[in-house]
Amino acid sequence: MLNRPNHNSHLIDYMGINVLKASHPQVRKLKRQQQGHSAHGNKVWRSSFVLMDYLSTWEIPPGSKVLDVGCGWGLAGVYLTKHYQAEVTGLDIDDSVEPFFKLQAEINQCTIKFEQRSFESLNKHDLAPYHTLMGTDICFWDELTTPLFNLLRRALDAGCQNILIADPGRPPFWALADLCVAKLDGEVVSRTIQQPWKSEKYILRIGDQ
Ligand SMILES: C[S@@+](CC[C@H](N)C(=O)[O-])C[C@H]1O[C@@H](n2cnc3c(N)ncnc32)[C@H](O)[C@@H]1O
Repeated sequence: MLNRPNHNSHLIDYMGINVLKASHPQVRKLKRQQQGHSAHGNKVWRSSFVLMDYLSTWEIPPGSKVLDVGCGWGLAGVYLTKHYQAEVTGLDIDDSVEPFFKLQAEINQCTIKFEQRSFESLNKHDLAPYHTLMGTDICFWDELTTPLFNLLRRALDAGCQNILIADPGRPPFWALADLCVAKLDGEVVSRTIQQPWKSEKYILRIGDQ
């Protein structure tokens, strides 16, 4: 899909989705109202643009349930909701991302569920409804590798068919990828986008797509 320039300079038009820029007046207003974010959910991270590009080659039955772990502002979920009629839930430990998440959905005329919760707290019963678990830029500290690996294992045990984790290639991500390749039949692909910036990221995928 072609990325057309958006006439509103506070938004990026990417693959048919309006992406909030930090300069957007409502973003600035929300930031003024908050003390700050605790774990990096303060913008849309570039891995989510690359994951959207990857998802554009994807097939998923309409209405499939997707869990976006560490969703931040939830961009990839908006894309799946708009273009695949997926039923997305964004989950984040940091409740301060919720107003940004809601604003991102609202400017794209869609509604997406948000849950303020840690991914460590999700058990197999919680994970069972999901067709796909995805995450972008969520493995950024060494301490996150093992709990994320355990989450992915629980999700697969619960019947989740696809897992997609996009990352710039930080060491904790590679540690997670190594574990998933060795123990969960995962693989890593690299993917590059040219717009809105040239950016190469890595996608850990487990499952049939
Ligand atoms: C670098 S941001 C990425 C946000 C978003 N996925 C994106 O690509 O724009 C990482 C997000 O993970 C969330 N996070 C960190 N640890 C978490 C945990 N244990 N459970 C759920 N969310 C977590 C943070 O609050 C933050 O919103």
